[in-house]
Amino acid sequence: MTALAPVITIDGPTASGKGTVAHRVAAALGWNVLDSGALYRLTALSILRSNTAPEDEQAVARAAQSLEVVFHPQGVLMGGQEVSEEIRQERVGNLASHIAPNPALRAALLARQRAFRVMPGLVADGRDMGTVVFEDAPLKIFLVADVSARAERRCKQLIEKGISANLDDLLRDMRERDARDINRAVAPLVAASDAHTVDSSNLSIEQTVQSILDLWSAVRGK
Ligand code: DC
Repeated sequence: MTALAPVITIDGPTASGKGTVAHRVAAALGWNVLDSGALYRLTALSILRSNTAPEDEQAVARAAQSLEVVFHPQGVLMGGQEVSEEIRQERVGNLASHIAPNPALRAALLARQRAFRVMPGLVADGRDMGTVVFEDAPLKIFLVADVSARAERRCKQLIEKGISANLDDLLRDMRERDARDINRAVAPLVAASDAHTVDSSNLSIEQTVQSILDLWSAVRGK
């Protein structure tokens, strides 16, 4: 039997720094990376473009199934078109969070996500990586940061990109999105029982990455 590639899962609320941290941990280990939120965002963008009703669960699942996606080091292509910037927009993220409870959509994305598990290893970031998609992962991280730290980071990022941002609006959106992700019936945002919680509120990106690499060394050395 071929051994399954190792996986480090990084789950946590929106803007907890998961994406940046996952990419840096993957780069340090020479592993692949899965940004599972991008698949929900791509589905959201696809239904926006085709005017599909978000409430039509089967149509949304079909849109996810037929996504033509290519991840590349600088971003992501959908149907051959560069959409990296567009899927980061708040309206796309909010719609992704609205459609995410749909069980047919989550089922449609399951095999797609698991296909990223190839040697020498995978760092997967999202909400349910450790609880559903890679339940057998040898290292699971639950990355948290308090909501004001996350809203301030997101505000800074947007302003740096030349996009206007208002801290109060971001805080309100973030609280609403957290509540939706935590309270949904299917695959809610919750730490796996065997996850290590890392609070990045007062940590730099480097310190957060290092703490995960240290945990991985400890797991590997067992
Ligand atoms: O991580 P993100 O902000 O790019 O994710 C966008 C939305 O997608 C998020 O609000 C909820 C959903 N999502 C999910 O339900 N499960 C995942 N594994 C990743 C994201």
